[in-house]
Amino acid sequence: MSIHDCYLLDLPQITNPRGNLTFIEGGVHVPFEIRRVYYLYDVPGGAERGGHAHKALQQLIIAMSGSFDVVLDDGREKRRFHLNRSYTGLYVCPMIWRELDNFSSGSVCMVLASNLYDEGDYYRNYQDYLRARGLR
Ligand code: TYD
Repeated sequence: MSIHDCYLLDLPQITNPRGNLTFIEGGVHVPFEIRRVYYLYDVPGGAERGGHAHKALQQLIIAMSGSFDVVLDDGREKRRFHLNRSYTGLYVCPMIWRELDNFSSGSVCMVLASNLYDEGDYYRNYQDYLRARGLR
């Protein structure tokens, strides 16, 4: 799994002068069954989130409101994505280190996840992560 297995994904959009609508069906518009949804909000300016990798979890990250950046890192390469559309998600495969920063005021980051919360699924130390990838 490398950052090349992560990608931006456009969700369906029903546009209407009265307002636009986007929907997401697990296993259809995202490549996994959705077992958990969480969101970050009231993020103070300059704050950074993330700073970990997941062993098995798959995620789709969406800027529901405002904007922020997601930096993906597979231990060899890094790529920065700027998310600012509520119909575009960033698919993140397992074993990718991620950091989120550059949050605009009032932004909301929604994450769809393939499994329930499990602290045992995290690498929270970058050196441990690199070791698990065989890069140290
Ligand atoms: P964490 O995943 O480190 O947040 P972020 O990557 O956005 O900085 O989680 C922060 C805290 O919230 C941590 O104590 C675990 C807890 N948490 C849950 O209890 N359930 C969840 O679904 C998530 C994502 C986090």
